[in-house]
Amino acid sequence: MTKLGDHIKTADFKNEKHVPVIELPSVVKPGEPLQITVSVGKEIPHPNTTEHFIAWIELYYLPEGGKFAYHLGRADFLAHGASTEGPNTITCNTEPQAVFKVKLDLPGELIATSWCNIHGLWEGSAELKF
Ligand code: FE2
Repeated sequence: MTKLGDHIKTADFKNEKHVPVIELPSVVKPGEPLQITVSVGKEIPHPNTTEHFIAWIELYYLPEGGKFAYHLGRADFLAHGASTEGPNTITCNTEPQAVFKVKLDLPGELIATSWCNIHGLWEGSAELKF
């Protein structure tokens, strides 16, 4: 049986523009508000045109020793230079970056996925340590 996870691509974000990058504050405390920034194209910008763009980012949390992942949030990026005048006729683009504010009390793994309308599903992760 094919699993979706078998078809999610990943790589080093420094060499691959599709990988979502998760950034955390330098100091993280259990149970306190935590601001997590997720972006695509941190080192190598991804195109943001009517024909080629990042459509969304999702963020998940897998607590250490947990049995399943929690879905923390989703950001949709809906403007890619299209207008009633045609494709790429206006500079009106939502860039693929989102900030999620959460409270977590266990260390674990943060996993982000992103969708490029041409190059498919990508994944990046970061360890959450206190
Ligand atoms: Fe792409």
